[in-house]
Amino acid sequence: MQRRLSRGIGRAGVMLAGAVAIAGCGGPKQGFGRSSTEGASGANPASGGSGAAPPTANAGAAGMSADSDLVGLRRAAAKAGKLIGAAVDARALREDPSYAEILAREFDYVTPENATKWEELAPTSGEYAWSDADSVVEFAEAHQQAVKGHTLVWHRQNPTWLQASMTPDEVRAALKGHISHTLQHYRGRMRAWDVVNEAVDLESPSGYTESLFWEKLGPGYIEDAFRWAREADPDVLLFYNEVGVERIGPKADFVFEMLRDLLARGVPIDGIGLQSHVSIHRYPAESNLRANIRRFAELGLRVNISELDARTLLLPGEREGRWEAQRLAFQQVVGVCATEPGCEGVTLWGFADEYSWINDEGEPDDALIFDRGYAAKPAYDGVLDGLSGVLPVVGENVIENGDFGRGVEGWAVAGGEVSVGAAEGREGTQICLRGRGSETDGLTQDLRERLASGGPFAFSGRVRIQGASHAPVTASLHVEVEGTEPEELQLGIIEAPEGTWVELAGCFGLGFTASPMAIELMLQGPPAGVDLCVAQAAIGALSAP
Ligand code: XIL
Repeated sequence: MQRRLSRGIGRAGVMLAGAVAIAGCGGPKQGFGRSSTEGASGANPASGGSGAAPPTANAGAAGMSADSDLVGLRRAAAKAGKLIGAAVDARALREDPSYAEILAREFDYVTPENATKWEELAPTSGEYAWSDADSVVEFAEAHQQAVKGHTLVWHRQNPTWLQASMTPDEVRAALKGHISHTLQHYRGRMRAWDVVNEAVDLESPSGYTESLFWEKLGPGYIEDAFRWAREADPDVLLFYNEVGVERIGPKADFVFEMLRDLLARGVPIDGIGLQSHVSIHRYPAESNLRANIRRFAELGLRVNISELDARTLLLPGEREGRWEAQRLAFQQVVGVCATEPGCEGVTLWGFADEYSWINDEGEPDDALIFDRGYAAKPAYDGVLDGLSGVLPVVGENVIENGDFGRGVEGWAVAGGEVSVGAAEGREGTQICLRGRGSETDGLTQDLRERLASGGPFAFSGRVRIQGASHAPVTASLHVEVEGTEPEELQLGIIEAPEGTWVELAGCFGLGFTASPMAIELMLQGPPAGVDLCVAQAAIGALSAP
C-alpha cells in the first residue's frame, strides 16, 4: 500500500503570506562516469555504465525501436539525444489503461515514484515485497524504457522497524544489507539508482539532514552508501539526488563542494539529480541553471533534472494564464537541459495532474503536463519545444537606466562613496559603492510603474565585490500592498568571489489583489566595508518565441 507522506518541497515553492503572491524564474565536459567496458549494456545513455560520451542516440533501453516509430516527447528526446522520464505510480499503472498508454508512448525513462523506497520494499524486517516495483520494471522492459531506482537512502518513507533505539552498528548493517539486497535483486535491469536523496539541509546546524543515518553514523554514511552500492552492482549508475539545488545558491554550492570532496576521495558517484520542483512563480534563470549544470558536469558527473513539476496556484487569475506561465517554466528547464551537453535528460515527477504528489501537499494543483482528462496541456508543448532546443525569450528591459549609461539616474543609492565609470574587466558601465556601512547598503529602483501583476519575468544583473575573499550579493523585490505586511522576494543570491564579475539571476511572477504602494528592486548583501559594483541590470517578461 502506498503511504502518502506530507513533506516540504523546498523553499522555492513556499507560498508567501498576505495579499501578494510573488513568483521567481530565471539563471563541460560530459560525465566521465566509468569506462564503457564496465557497463553491462554499452554506451547507450539509457543503459547503465556508459562512459564519457554524452547521450547521442537517445535514450530508450537496449533494443528500442527505430526513432521513426517514436512519437511525441519520446521522438523529440531521441532527436535531442536526451532521456525523457516520468515518475510512475505503480497503482495507476495497474489500474488505469490511459495512464499506461501515455507512459509507454511519451517516455523512455521511468522511475518508480514510491515502489522502490525502503518502506515499500521492506515493510517488515527481513522480508522483501518486490511486486509493485517489479511491475514497474517489467512494464519498462516491455516498452523499451530505461529505469532509475529511487531511492536507497533517504530520511523519509523508511520502514517503521528502522528505529532510533537501534545501535549505530545495527543501523549500519541494516543500511548496507538493504542496499546490497536491493541492487542485487535488480542487477542488470536498472540503468541507474538514486543512492542518497536529500542529505543536505542548510537549516540544520551541521548543514546535513539530521536523519537517523546521520545521527547514528555521521555524514560518513553518504560515502559508505555509494561504496556499498558499487560493491553490490558495479555496472549500474549511482546518483546523488537533491531538492532545491537547481539554481546556483548556498545549497547548490554546499552540495557542489560535498560532491567535489567525495569524488576527490574516490567515492563512486556517477551523477547528480537536480529535483526541480518549481512553481510558475519561481524557477531558475536560464543562465543560472546552465552554469549550475556545467559545473556539476565539469566534476565528471552526469546531470539529470530528476523530479520536474511546476505548481501554478500561487498567482491569482484564470487557469488559462497560469497554464501558459506553466508552459514557460517547463520549456525553460527542459530547454536548458536539451541544449547542455552535460545534462542527460529530464524526469518529470509524474505526468498526469490527477496523480501528482503536489495535490497531497496542500491545495490540489495542476503541476504536470496532462490534465485530468488526459489531454495534453500547454506545458506538454513546453516540454516538446524545450526538447527541440527552443527556449523562452526575455522581452525588453523594464529597468530604467539598467546599464548605468546615465550614471545613477533612476536609482536610489545608499552607501558611502558612489562612482560610475567604465566597467573594469568587462564591457559597459559599472556603478560602485565604496565604504558601505551595512549589508543593506546598495542600489534600489522603484518599479511600481513598470511591473504589472503577472509574469513571469526574468531578472539578471552582473555584480562584483572587493574587500573580502567572497561575500553574498542578493537581488530582491520589496513589495508593499496596503493592509498587508510588506513582502521580500529573493530573486537571486550568489556568493561572489573577490574581483570577479558574476551573474545574479532569477525568474519571478507577481500577483496583486490590490494595487501595490511599492515594488522596489534591491541589490545589496555584502557586509559593511565590502565594495559592491553592479553592471547591466535587467528585468524582462518571458514569452515563448
Ligand atoms: C513523493 C511521492 O511523489 C509521494 O507520492 C510520496 O507520498 C512522498 O514522496 N522528493 C523526492 C520524492 O525525492 O521521493 C518525493 O516523492 C517527492 C520529493
